[in-house]
Amino acid sequence: MRINNFEEYQQAYKKSVEDPEGFWGEIANEFVWKKPFDKVLEWNFEEPNVKWFLGGKLNITENCLDRHVENKPQQTAIIWEPNDPSDEAVSLTYKVLHERVCRFANVLKKHGIKKGDRVCIYMPMIPELVVSVLACARIGAIHSVVFGGFSAKSISDRINDSQCKMVITSDGAVRGTKSIPMKETVDDAIVTCPSVEKVIVATRTRTPVSMIKGRDYWWEDEIKKVSADCPAEEMDAEDPLFILYTSGSTGKPKGVVHTCGGYMVYTTYSFVNAFQYNPGEVYFCTADIGWITGHSYIAYGPLAAGAINVMFEGVPTYPDAGRFWDIVDKHKVNIFYTAPTAIRALMGNGLEYLEGKDLSSLKVLGTVGEPINEEAWQWYHKYIGKEKCPIVDTWWQTETGGFMITPLAHITKTKPSYATLPLPGIQPALMDENGNEIEGNDVSGNLCIKFPWPSIIRTTWGDHERCKQVYFSSYPGKYFTGDGCLRDEDGYYRITGRVDDVINVSGHRIGTAEVEDALNMHLGVVESAVVGFPHDIKGQGIYAYMIMDKPVEDGEMLKKDILATVTRIIGPIAKPDHILFVNGLPKTRSGKIMRRILRKIAEGDVSNLGDTSTLLDPAVVDEIKAKVGLA
Ligand code: WTA
Repeated sequence: MRINNFEEYQQAYKKSVEDPEGFWGEIANEFVWKKPFDKVLEWNFEEPNVKWFLGGKLNITENCLDRHVENKPQQTAIIWEPNDPSDEAVSLTYKVLHERVCRFANVLKKHGIKKGDRVCIYMPMIPELVVSVLACARIGAIHSVVFGGFSAKSISDRINDSQCKMVITSDGAVRGTKSIPMKETVDDAIVTCPSVEKVIVATRTRTPVSMIKGRDYWWEDEIKKVSADCPAEEMDAEDPLFILYTSGSTGKPKGVVHTCGGYMVYTTYSFVNAFQYNPGEVYFCTADIGWITGHSYIAYGPLAAGAINVMFEGVPTYPDAGRFWDIVDKHKVNIFYTAPTAIRALMGNGLEYLEGKDLSSLKVLGTVGEPINEEAWQWYHKYIGKEKCPIVDTWWQTETGGFMITPLAHITKTKPSYATLPLPGIQPALMDENGNEIEGNDVSGNLCIKFPWPSIIRTTWGDHERCKQVYFSSYPGKYFTGDGCLRDEDGYYRITGRVDDVINVSGHRIGTAEVEDALNMHLGVVESAVVGFPHDIKGQGIYAYMIMDKPVEDGEMLKKDILATVTRIIGPIAKPDHILFVNGLPKTRSGKIMRRILRKIAEGDVSNLGDTSTLLDPAVVDEIKAKVGLA
């Protein structure tokens, strides 16, 4: 599966297009299957219906754990770096991780969890999180990890959507100087979740938590009662592996479903090739497992590849803005993967935090989550990579499961702010406004993918029609990404950002509709409209225009109250950076909010608002402009 030079990349790419089944079949055969697959691919993008490795039976944990335990039991699988640097880091070998996973898998079974059941995981970045994820996979339970920063309401919506029978959490979490309740938030969430029968609680902070008899159990007690022997459940290649909720343009977050076989093959293949991972190298991805990056490139891909994985509990700025570099120095990290927002934040803190840090172990740098601006790219390249480490700018999505367009480290010539070239198996298409594919180079359009790859989204949980509508109906016969993209004269791809109503805040996807729904729940709010605007550190910030039912007196206090509501309904990541109270919103005669205008005003640019003649009441725009001092 390993590509070693650019020529091999070109050959692999060619083969993947001409003979996709032969191409992926060969790669898939490098994994451990309980029963070989009969057919590589069956698909149509109309329903959509995509199946990879049909008839194949496997368990992904045998590939992530058992096969390494056989070959290299003493190799480190995970180095856990705690929030507080004076606490000791913990190393888990593949053998130890395997034991812990099996033991916890038996706890799940003992508490009635079976193949196909859904389990919600709401945990901080502690080893028990990876153990929980893999233990679910071990017995064929479908995990639904909810990022630890989401509110009780967000957790309960997700639990109810997929009817989780169990929640795995911890008493509390520590992030920087903050101590955060976890179990308490779960308690609030499950008041409205009748499907939840059991809650398992791992200790992290040993803060007081309520433990309800017959429902709540301590992790540490339960693992003592079971054996460490747990055979891996036989899974069909197309059985669901997990659900991960993500935001879109409309409605509530949807549960993206990934399946066992294709996801395993693709995350491993893309990990090994994009980062050019060599056995024994230390890899550090700073993402949280609550997001897809942590699923694919902490939990599954690297472990399936037998990598040494650094897992970090804390934040980049605690105890100071040199923490990432301390970790790189301390654990001699070879491959470092983070988000542009983190780079920009650290860049803003100055070079003094790099002093005395030995970064010479670094070979490859990566970024993900949002377009990386040239300034951040150059800083990362110069000061972190010392101009010798390629920057692998990986473009992909929750729905794609793995990297789509990315350089191969040391193989693809990089170019600042370009994700460069598609991985083998990925066939991008740029589309014009009439729905036609734009051929040739030096063009831009909406980014679609023409052919399935093994880790493509299979469905949205409980609502296949929604999957079809959102991803497969804008451009019939193609998967639509929601991103705008340009292809330059060299055929290199550069992602320009979302073309829909999704805001990318610090690399986190937030739907404008979701934030509006939360704002509208606040007392006295008549209507609201949310747009993204360029933000120096976060990439995009959230700008909210709000109409209240009476004139606003203490605006500052009211804003704080509104932010408290958003925090309670979604979580702190969805809090608007700006709130502007207005008397009206620019709407068309059919009642549609013209977000284009609101975006321009939020950007502070009203030089060209475009055609406003279709507005029901053009005076609204003047009023808003006057309010922000742009009139
Ligand atoms: C954006 C994160 C530019 C894009 C893995 C995409 C990027 C959305 C990049 C998916 C990148 C991700 N360059 N934009 N390298 N990577 N994006 O689902 O808009 O959280 O559609 O997956 O992030 O976000 P998601």
